[in-house]
Amino acid sequence: MTSQKQNVQTDGSILATREKKRVKFSGSLKFVSSLLLPLTLGVFTVVITFQQQGAAKQQRDGDREAAKQLRDQEKQDAELLRKQDKDLDKQRYENGRFDAYIQQMGKLLEKYHGSIKSSEIAATLARVKTLNIFRQLEPQRNVHIIRFLYEAKQLTDTPENRSIDLSTAKLLDIDFRDTAVDGKQLDQLSLTGIFLLNATFIGIKMSNINFSRTKFDTTNFSLAKIHDANFSFAEFYNTSFTSTYFSNTIFAKTTFQNVNFSSTTFDTIEFPWGKLENVYFSSNNIRYINFQFSSLVNVDFSFSVLFNADFSSASLTDVNFSHTLLVKAKFPSATLKGVDFSSAELYKPDFSNAQLTNLNFKSTNLISANFLDAKISNTNFHQSSCVASRFQLASLSDCNFWQSNLKDAIFQAARLNQVNFYHANLYKTNFMDADMANSELDNTLSIQDVILPNKTSAHDVNLIKDGQADCNISHISGWTLNNGNITTAISNKSNSNCQFTLQSFSTGATMYQRVNLSDKWDSNLWTYSEAVLSAKVSTGVLIDLKGLQRNNSVSSKETLSSTKEQINLLLHNDMWELEVFIKFNATASHSNMNNYWCDDIKLYIIYGTYLESRQRKYCPR
Ligand SMILES: *[C@@H]1O[C@H](CO)[C@@H](O)[C@H](O)[C@H]1NC(C)=O
Ligand SMILES: *[C@@H]1O[C@H](CO)[C@@H](O)[C@H](O)[C@H]1NC(C)=O
Ligand SMILES: *[C@@H]1O[C@H](CO)[C@@H](O)[C@H](O)[C@H]1NC(C)=O
Ligand SMILES: *[C@@H]1O[C@H](CO)[C@@H](O)[C@H](O)[C@H]1NC(C)=O
Ligand SMILES: *[C@@H]1O[C@H](CO)[C@@H](O)[C@H](O)[C@H]1NC(C)=O
Ligand SMILES: *[C@@H]1O[C@H](CO)[C@@H](O)[C@H](O)[C@H]1NC(C)=O
Ligand SMILES: *[C@@H]1O[C@H](CO)[C@@H](O)[C@H](O)[C@H]1NC(C)=O
Ligand SMILES: *[C@@H]1O[C@H](CO)[C@@H](O)[C@H](O)[C@H]1NC(C)=O
Ligand SMILES: *[C@@H]1O[C@H](CO)[C@@H](O)[C@H](O)[C@H]1NC(C)=O
Ligand SMILES: *[C@@H]1O[C@H](CO)[C@@H](O)[C@H](O)[C@H]1NC(C)=O
Ligand SMILES: *[C@@H]1O[C@H](CO)[C@@H](O)[C@H](O)[C@H]1NC(C)=O
Ligand SMILES: *[C@@H]1O[C@H](CO)[C@@H](O)[C@H](O)[C@H]1NC(C)=O
Repeated sequence: MTSQKQNVQTDGSILATREKKRVKFSGSLKFVSSLLLPLTLGVFTVVITFQQQGAAKQQRDGDREAAKQLRDQEKQDAELLRKQDKDLDKQRYENGRFDAYIQQMGKLLEKYHGSIKSSEIAATLARVKTLNIFRQLEPQRNVHIIRFLYEAKQLTDTPENRSIDLSTAKLLDIDFRDTAVDGKQLDQLSLTGIFLLNATFIGIKMSNINFSRTKFDTTNFSLAKIHDANFSFAEFYNTSFTSTYFSNTIFAKTTFQNVNFSSTTFDTIEFPWGKLENVYFSSNNIRYINFQFSSLVNVDFSFSVLFNADFSSASLTDVNFSHTLLVKAKFPSATLKGVDFSSAELYKPDFSNAQLTNLNFKSTNLISANFLDAKISNTNFHQSSCVASRFQLASLSDCNFWQSNLKDAIFQAARLNQVNFYHANLYKTNFMDADMANSELDNTLSIQDVILPNKTSAHDVNLIKDGQADCNISHISGWTLNNGNITTAISNKSNSNCQFTLQSFSTGATMYQRVNLSDKWDSNLWTYSEAVLSAKVSTGVLIDLKGLQRNNSVSSKETLSSTKEQINLLLHNDMWELEVFIKFNATASHSNMNNYWCDDIKLYIIYGTYLESRQRKYCPR
């Protein structure tokens, strides 16, 4: 096939003639296709024969012209003439074969009223003749055979009129733009089980297409628009789907190797039971994508946006989801190895019963992730956000949660082996009945309100020194008395409780304590953190929580009174210290100084609260 092509290309004039012929040919095809089929077939053969004669004359003209030019180059003369003769012989031969095929198929079509498949013998005959002619003709003519069959509705598969079976046909270098209506539209084409090498579908609009079981090698679908297509059991090697538009297309049990889906538009797309290797989906935006039971090796989804991606029971190896936004992705019972989710954002992903080995969740947002009963090993969660994620019954080994945010996460009855929570935020994390070593909770950033495996609750160290009044010491320590007199005294209500109490009505009193933030809060890692102050105070006592800048000016302030149990102060980048300022507001209307008191002053920080507000954007409720 290749050598024939080379021969043709040595003579420009022949090529030009053929091109002219091709244009005329497709023009008349368009014309005849508008007529009724019986008439179409009769006219078709006449037109073809007529055109071939004209073409042969033109070829002879070209031959003479070429020969005249060649007279100057004596050496090459003989060689080229011989080639041209051979070429012309081949042209005549191919013309003959082509005409004979069209006539024979025309007769079959007439005899069976356009429905060759209605007769088993006719169908077999048509199949054999067509496969045979494909082998005999060069690609350009095969394009016309396909166009002839397509226009005679023999490649349109409807329940009434079946398409002829061309499976196992091998077609090279077919440019389907030459078979399409106006070079751009192909509807109702059924070409199943064939083999296409170097086929071109660039920019064609296709609908109701059946390419199931067809093998595509080095094919370009770039800029095509594909609606209602069936590519099930198809195989794609070295194929480009860049900037292709798909809707309602199925790729069940399809094989992809070296396929590029960059900048494609999928509305919903199905790849169940597929086999994908070296496939590139980067920077796509997909509303629904189904990879159930598929195997994906070296597939790149980085920088994509995937809503409702379903990878249930799929196997993913070296897949890249870096910087990808995945909303409600499903991975239940999937096997993931070496998958890169770094800097990805996953909202409500489902990894239940999945096996995760060697994964990278570095700086990943795993909001409300479900890892129920998952097996996770050698996985990096460094600086990830797993707020409200569920790891119940999961088994984790050699996992690193350094500086990650596990606020409200649940590890109930999980098994943890060599899991490191260094500087992690475990605010309200639940480890009830978890199987883990105590040391795994050393050096966390926060364990405020953590439920420990033995069901007891853990707390962070109070950032306030002597927040609890101690009546065993005469003076108040830890606090700076600003004015007035405050002492500790046993409450007159419950004689066991010691409280901070006002000593003189005349002036009232104030005292304060400052807490340095620099070693407690990294504003880059934990943006949107909040200081939380809780205390018990009587009426007439107020506690200000102030964020102070380096120059002591107040950045922001919240006030706690007897009507509130706690206050939250959002931390700002410019805050250097926190100040807790207690005011005993003396009024003559109060008779008993013992009625002015405060106690149980606690201050701690809730880290990284910004994600919940973002989560609400994608997952309301
Ligand atoms: C089947 O083919 C026949 C003959 O070409 C045509 O008349 C008929 O409309 C076709 N039926 C359908 C459903 O396409
Ligand atoms: C692929 O097919 C096109 C025609 O569609 C042809 O022009 C081109 O030379 C072919 N490429 C190769 C590598 O054969
Ligand atoms: C496509 O071709 C396959 C056979 O390869 C057949 O099973 C299927 O029904 C055809 N039609 C559609 C619409 O997929
Ligand atoms: C697609 O073709 C396959 C056969 O290859 C067939 O089993 C399946 O039903 C077809 N799908 C649709 C939606 O027609
Ligand atoms: C893939 O296709 C391109 C052209 O589309 C071609 O240049 C390249 O050689 C092909 N690679 C393989 C491995 O077939
Ligand atoms: C496919 O066709 C498009 C559009 O003509 C072109 O830009 C692209 O390079 C082609 N891809 C390959 C792999 O040949
Ligand atoms: C896929 O195609 C796009 C656009 O043509 C190109 O930028 C990108 O490099 C290709 N990717 C691969 C892996 O070939
Ligand atoms: C995944 O893709 C990102 C972005 O293209 C790249 O930086 C990273 O190295 C890739 N990951 C792997 C494991 O190849
Ligand atoms: C519960 O476990 C914690 C940490 O391991 C330990 O300090 C505490 O004493 C335990 N409490 C009870 C009631 O066992
Ligand atoms: C104060 O001393 C009493 C006994 O003198 C003791 O029972 C109590 O625990 C002490 N309180 C504090 C806070 O140390
Ligand atoms: C504060 O009041 C207590 C008890 O009334 C008293 O013993 C103490 O000397 C007073 N301190 C100051 C600085 O006035
Ligand atoms: C202190 O008490 C006075 C008199 O009741 C009242 O006017 C004032 O607002 C109070 N100060 C504070 C800070 O509550």
